[in-house]
Amino acid sequence: MYNPMFDVEGKIVLITGSGRGLGLTYAKGYLKAGATVILNDVVEETLKEVVAGLREEGYNAYGYCFDVSDENSVKDAVARIEAEVGPIDVLINNAGIHRRAPLAEMSAADWRKVIDVNLTSAFLVGQAVAQGMIARKKGKIINITSLNAVLARTNIANYSSAKGGLTMLTKSMATEWGRFGVTCNAIGPGYIKTDLTKPLVEDPEFNSWVVSEVPLGRWGDPEDIVGTAIFLGSPASDYINGYTIFVDGGWQACL
Ligand SMILES: NC(=O)c1ccc[n+]([C@@H]2O[C@H](COP(=O)([O-])OP(=O)(O)OC[C@H]3O[C@@H](n4cnc5c(N)ncnc54)[C@H](O)[C@@H]3O)[C@@H](O)[C@H]2O)c1
Repeated sequence: MYNPMFDVEGKIVLITGSGRGLGLTYAKGYLKAGATVILNDVVEETLKEVVAGLREEGYNAYGYCFDVSDENSVKDAVARIEAEVGPIDVLINNAGIHRRAPLAEMSAADWRKVIDVNLTSAFLVGQAVAQGMIARKKGKIINITSLNAVLARTNIANYSSAKGGLTMLTKSMATEWGRFGVTCNAIGPGYIKTDLTKPLVEDPEFNSWVVSEVPLGRWGDPEDIVGTAIFLGSPASDYINGYTIFVDGGWQACL
């Protein structure tokens, strides 16, 4: 039965880092639900191919290639998107990278790069998009954090710090923009099988650690997160603001 509470049909949704992986899965979920989706990536060729494929299937998909950590590119792209496609209703700050290294040996360049792409990007894109949302008194921002926003692990101090910061940026956006009708929440995925986690899935020791630790006894699939991404972009979540929903198979529920 149709339920308007979860309806995102006709919404314009910008998803960063959506040329592959979880971002692409959110894009497909929103497209199937009748939304118009603007896909973004820094890898132009993949983005073009993916968007062409989606348009061939009849979906309302658009591709805008820009680096989410570059201030001028972000401002320019958001202005073009709003002029060419329309006002953005939902923003998913999804782009993220890893530069794994032991903390004692981590280079400042790898530290800065991961903070820039995982955290500063959400500030830049969030601010550029929120200006329109604030003027229209309506909008939803979803930041993609991680289980590592609250639990540390070796070799990813830059990533955990960025995701921890993104949790607080989520609360700050919720605090400052709520009065203008703009909500901001986060999704914290657990261990999900994508290209980003491929080295971990292929490491037998790591793989068996994940499978034995997570109460559901398996890695997550990208599709496991789509429902939450749509919920946070739909009217059903209108009074939820500043929170993180963890989609982690129960990882934090037990010792
Ligand atoms: N896969 C997991 O288990 C997992 C767990 C927790 C959180 N996450 C988060 O989910 C998000 C997506 O992860 P994924 O596994 O799909 O990763 P992925 O590497 O498969 O996809 C990330 C995409 O972002 C793009 N990208 C990278 N830098 C960019 C930039 N500067 N500008 C624009 N696009 C850029 C990449 O080209 C890529 O297409 C990330 O924020 C990640 O931290 C993933």
